[in-house]
Amino acid sequence: MIDRTIIVDKFKTSKVQTPFYYYDVDLLKQTVETAKKEAKKRDYILHYALKANANPRLLKIIFAAGFGADCVSGNEIFRALENGAKQEGIMFAGVGKSDLEIKIGLYNNIFAFNCESIPEMENINYLARMKGLKVYNIGIRINPDVDAKTHEYISTGKKENKFGISAWDFEKVIEKLKKLEYIRLTSLHFHIGSQIMDMTVFAELCQRVNHFNQWFKDRGFELEHINVGGGLGVDYQTPDANPIPDFATYFSTFKQNLKLFPGQKLHFEPGRSIVAQCGSLITRVLYVKEGKTKDFVIVDAGMTDLIRPALYQAHHHIENLSSDAPVKHYDVVGPICESSDCFAKDVLLPETKRDNFIALRSTGAYGEVMASKYNLRDLPKTVFSDEI
Ligand code: LLP
Repeated sequence: MIDRTIIVDKFKTSKVQTPFYYYDVDLLKQTVETAKKEAKKRDYILHYALKANANPRLLKIIFAAGFGADCVSGNEIFRALENGAKQEGIMFAGVGKSDLEIKIGLYNNIFAFNCESIPEMENINYLARMKGLKVYNIGIRINPDVDAKTHEYISTGKKENKFGISAWDFEKVIEKLKKLEYIRLTSLHFHIGSQIMDMTVFAELCQRVNHFNQWFKDRGFELEHINVGGGLGVDYQTPDANPIPDFATYFSTFKQNLKLFPGQKLHFEPGRSIVAQCGSLITRVLYVKEGKTKDFVIVDAGMTDLIRPALYQAHHHIENLSSDAPVKHYDVVGPICESSDCFAKDVLLPETKRDNFIALRSTGAYGEVMASKYNLRDLPKTVFSDEI
């Protein structure tokens, strides 16, 4: 819930420039504690996916609660370590890890590399041999060919996606592993997509995981870890009705459907479900332009600050924090020279005027972290609820 008075009163005359990301620190803490409590009940291990939001202030809260980290670049490994993540809780995933990034992982003794191809396994083995005597843990990311029933750009577990290793290559993987003496297969890794609301999708993933887990056991592999990635969705339509995702149902789906062998641990990599609802992009109305068929609200935030609507036609709930006037239909657009720089079409808002504050809700995940400087714009600022 956004406290309108705080935003409107504090920032009306403030020097803090709009647009800025406003983070509700209490909500983040409650979300982190809920996820942690529900995971702990089932003895599950959580690694926060930094790609969703790598803001240092938020990371400190998440890592102080004991989360591990899921990183997808060398810089994310550094960012995680700088903000309290433990080396032994860091996973490194991604289809294109560079030599430098692999070395960053090796030299920081991270928990595991999740490998996505045979050439990558060979390269990690080579770089590990150059480094010295230790044998490093790897997981293989399996492409389970499961339809995540989400936007195609954020679906990653179908056979046509670039991610992971497919079942028909497993024999080759096993043969190769026998020859690579500086890496040891300790886990299977999966991530089928993001913003998944349908729990039957995760139940289907579990069936595939059971199958692959058995397959490797039958061939003599004693795997210690199963990692099912992230993907739990959030309520973008009515964020105040569901500020904290239903972690209990999510983890129960895995408890009921996934069969672990004795001693195996189950790991998750949640990103969006942890940080989406605590963030709002706050922007100021520059102009209201009357059109022939509709009016445009032109705000000072653009697709450079929040690219999700332009990239995935994503819906973010929009509120006018400054007006209680009767509602009208508007298109809410930004200042960038692209037609796709549009946050919402034909949305109902209280009658809107210049200098009103507008909140784009549920933007804590894949918001700030995907901002760009296109049009040579400044990056958005950040404001934390406990610092104003
Ligand atoms: N693990 C891996 C290997 C991933 O690739 C991802 C996200 C996650 C975990 C975290 O998934 P989450 O819990 O956040 O769904 N930019 C897009 C989302 C891209 C997700 C990429 N991978 C968006 O704005 O919707």
